[in-house]
Amino acid sequence: MVFIEQQRLHLGAEADVWSGTWFGRPAVRKQRRPRSWRHPDLDHRLGTRRMTSEARLLIRLRRSGLPVPAVWDLDMEGGQMVLEHLPGTPLIDVLNDSSSTQSNVNQILHSVGATVRLLHREAMTHGDLSTNNMLIDGPKVYLIDFGLAAIDYEVERFGIDLHVLDEILGASHPQWEGAIDRVVQGYRAAEEQLGTTPTLRGGRVPSAEEVLRRLEEIRTRVRYHG
Ligand SMILES: Nc1ncnc2c1ncn2[C@@H]1O[C@H](COP(=O)(O)OP(=O)(O)OP(=O)(O)O)[C@@H](O)[C@H]1O
Ligand SMILES: [Mg+2]
Repeated sequence: MVFIEQQRLHLGAEADVWSGTWFGRPAVRKQRRPRSWRHPDLDHRLGTRRMTSEARLLIRLRRSGLPVPAVWDLDMEGGQMVLEHLPGTPLIDVLNDSSSTQSNVNQILHSVGATVRLLHREAMTHGDLSTNNMLIDGPKVYLIDFGLAAIDYEVERFGIDLHVLDEILGASHPQWEGAIDRVVQGYRAAEEQLGTTPTLRGGRVPSAEEVLRRLEEIRTRVRYHG
């Protein structure tokens, strides 16, 4: 793998992420980390499967024109993947930045909602829509970290995607009141602009309204059952 590392961006439980270059281009290397509590063989199999799945889904989304990083190299045995280095600041940092303004944040959250709807229209759920997994570059929103993403046609997981973001915005960023409402507006606006989602090979993707109704149901469920 011809990745030249420069700086560690992130050391998480699952991945060690470095920025650097790949054939002279700004790149990111995501290296799966062994989980010591699992049997090494099982660990290797799970890690490899996750990474292959992440790469496969990213390639598919890129081909459809979604704002996700290009996959430049994949070393399954070594558990490494080289991605295009995307510009931008993680949404979590934008929301925690005391110099961010309400109108700018509103616009960003609207774009976040629209971008999530674009993803959902591809019959794909993200699985971990946290404010760490979105990069904000001016008006552009990039989605990253597809290790838990999946193709799906049942409304439930689409609703959960929005609910995860709802919970994080409420718990970690309460200073931006009504943040999820902006996201929901963007989610709905994207559908209005693009029209009914065409039926795909695997079936019919739930509409924006169906997903938003499910989000309401999930909220009620959580409120009553914890
Ligand atoms: N293509 C990219 N361009 C720019 N920055 C990136 C890119 N991919 C990842 N990063 C940065 O590295 C961080 C971690 O990457 P990622 O979210 O993919 O790992 P992770 O699966 O969450 O790791 P863990 O689960 O171990 O925490 C991101 O939050 C982001 O700041
Ligand atoms: Mg992440």
